Amino acid sequence: MKKYLVAAVSVFVVSIQAYAQEQGKELFLTGAKPIACAVCHTLADAGSAGAIGPDLDELKPGKEQILKVMKEGMGAMPSFAQTMSDEERDAVATYVSSVAGQ
Ligand code: HEC
Repeated sequence: MKKYLVAAVSVFVVSIQAYAQEQGKELFLTGAKPIACAVCHTLADAGSAGAIGPDLDELKPGKEQILKVMKEGMGAMPSFAQTMSDEERDAVATYVSSVAGQ
């Protein structure tokens, strides 16, 4: 019985993670407001080739670094603090930090 419970919980956790990854990717490509990240950044996993900001596959930013720049903005990059929720920013940061440089 316990074994089945553990298996069910693992499947649940894995599908939540997969969902967050999908949401992060979708936001990166089109959903992020005011402007989608893909317009300005290259990221192979997302198939984007933006060249206004740094190539994220080369930079390989960590999750905290991504959350910070999304909140504060940097140079030509706008802030996403007012236009996206904490959960949405978290999904993007989790996604980008897990696929950059792969
Ligand atoms: C309008 C273009 C633009 C958009 C849209 C944009 N960025 Fe940026 N981004 C930049 C530029 C330009 C820089 C470099 C700024 C500098 O070095 O002065 C940058 C820097 C960064 C950095 C590096 C931060 C550091 O610590 O050096 C990360 C990570 C990043 N962006 C992620 C994102 C993510 C994730 C999104 C979408 C939510 C996004 N960017 C949307 C232009 C953009």
